[in-house]
Amino acid sequence: LDNGLARTPPMGFNDWNAFGCNVSEQLIEQTADYLVSSGLRDDGYTYVNIDDCWLTHSRDAAGNLVPDPAKFPDGIKGTADYVHAKGLKLGIYEDAGTATCAGYPGSLGHEQQDANSFAAWGVDYLKYDNCNNTGVPWQQRYDAMRDALAATGRPIVFSMCEWGEDSVWTWGAPTGNLWRTTGDISANFSSMLSIYHSNVQLAAYAGPGGWNDPDMLEVGNGMSFTEDRSEFSLWAEMAAPLIAGTDLRQATPATLSLYGNKAVIAVDQDPLGRQGTQVSSSGGLDVLAKPLANGDVAVVLFNENSSAATISTTAGAVGLPASSSYKLTNLWSNAVTSSGGAISASVPGHGSVMYRVSPGSGSSTGTTHPLLGASSH
Ligand code: DGJ
Repeated sequence: LDNGLARTPPMGFNDWNAFGCNVSEQLIEQTADYLVSSGLRDDGYTYVNIDDCWLTHSRDAAGNLVPDPAKFPDGIKGTADYVHAKGLKLGIYEDAGTATCAGYPGSLGHEQQDANSFAAWGVDYLKYDNCNNTGVPWQQRYDAMRDALAATGRPIVFSMCEWGEDSVWTWGAPTGNLWRTTGDISANFSSMLSIYHSNVQLAAYAGPGGWNDPDMLEVGNGMSFTEDRSEFSLWAEMAAPLIAGTDLRQATPATLSLYGNKAVIAVDQDPLGRQGTQVSSSGGLDVLAKPLANGDVAVVLFNENSSAATISTTAGAVGLPASSSYKLTNLWSNAVTSSGGAISASVPGHGSVMYRVSPGSGSSTGTTHPLLGASSH
């Protein structure tokens, strides 16, 4: 959507994966505090997003949505003010149907009134779900909210939670800033794997302002560390929104080391805005390549199987220009090696190795310091 927003994939937090309906102002504000104190805000995690169940069950006499006063004693406006004071942005959830998935009032037929409420409260991001849609055509329902948000004059990221129905990616770009390509993720490897398989095919539809959304991250919610690292690597390689779905306040250092890897985040947020594609996929061993703005290529070697395997490709196969040498930076270990063109690693079962590959032996900016020669990190 050409509204000037989400020129790189949105990053932030959403409560649904870890808390379901147990959302509250306290949770949102404590998460905002933690994003600041942990440094994650400065890594790019900007949006603190409220999911379903923030409402009361009926609109007021004037037809306005009413935040649940027990969960949000200061309302959405008070919560937004708090989040904004921390240098963060606030996201909210509604539904393009008569009721949200959890049964609270939906926005179908109330688009402008509800968009006006969101704007008045200081909302910066809307996740717009698809339950109870009474068969009104998909695009009609999502266009209506897009136009209502635009009419408020407030910049609001429009996240379409349409579960991949109606091939949303084919009409997503003029309608929303991101669109879910699948049903809901859950915190296990097979769920993550099947969503990856669907989403990775859709690279042609993604770009600045409009992203395929393979759902929120389950990193920290129950997969093994190796599997969590694969999810984070694959999501970054696919230029997916990086929306943390775990209770960050309680996250282990290992989990935080995944969410906080700046080099992997930089792949996700690369300004070229290309979604990585499968260069090869055979027998559960995948090679993905994502071209980056400075001419480097981010490569993920992903092992879908449960036992370790060597996965190999070449600089030429991932789209790098011919060169006598390449610099490979392992984005998880930080090890730097040089290569004549082979890109290969032993990858644990369900694991991933992620490289940033640069032509030549210099730094990843492609320049070599005149006095120091090739940089060594
Ligand atoms: C379905 C969506 O796909 C989920 O991400 C979540 O928002 C729930 N609805 C909330 O009811």
